[in-house]
Amino acid sequence: MAKVLVIHGPNLNLLGMREPEVYGSRTLAEIDAMLEKEAELLDIEVEIKQSNYEGEIVEAIHGAFGESQAILLNPAGYTHTSVVIRDAIAAVRLPTIEVHLSNIWAREEWREKSITASVCVGVVAGFEAMSYVFALRAAKSLIEREV
Ligand code: DQA
Repeated sequence: MAKVLVIHGPNLNLLGMREPEVYGSRTLAEIDAMLEKEAELLDIEVEIKQSNYEGEIVEAIHGAFGESQAILLNPAGYTHTSVVIRDAIAAVRLPTIEVHLSNIWAREEWREKSITASVCVGVVAGFEAMSYVFALRAAKSLIEREV
């Protein structure tokens, strides 16, 4: 069965209480449950990780090589700063979809720049928790070479 690695970056463990007007009111556990349910419908396996540490995210991306067929990644604040996460995605060459709960282009100007997006197949942003569900559907299409 095809496997997709989902990585949630820093501060996403606080979803639910963290700026709900920006990120929605669902907790990370609720989002993960949505992903598990969608994965079952799509007949794929998901492995889900959350980390507040840049190096751990890099290692999770490395670990996906040979294990997963695609990655969903919300780099959170590292989106705008992390050369090493960008380089890890480029190194493993797994189709990666960048995910954001909020529309990063409709917020502060400094959030408009994503360092990681250029090595991703695409970006799903602005649909709160549903961004992850749409991204998982996109991952399934990528794995089946529909796109
Ligand atoms: C985020 C957007 C980032 O700018 C922010 O730093 C986050 C969450 C999102 O999912 O909307 O932590 O990645």
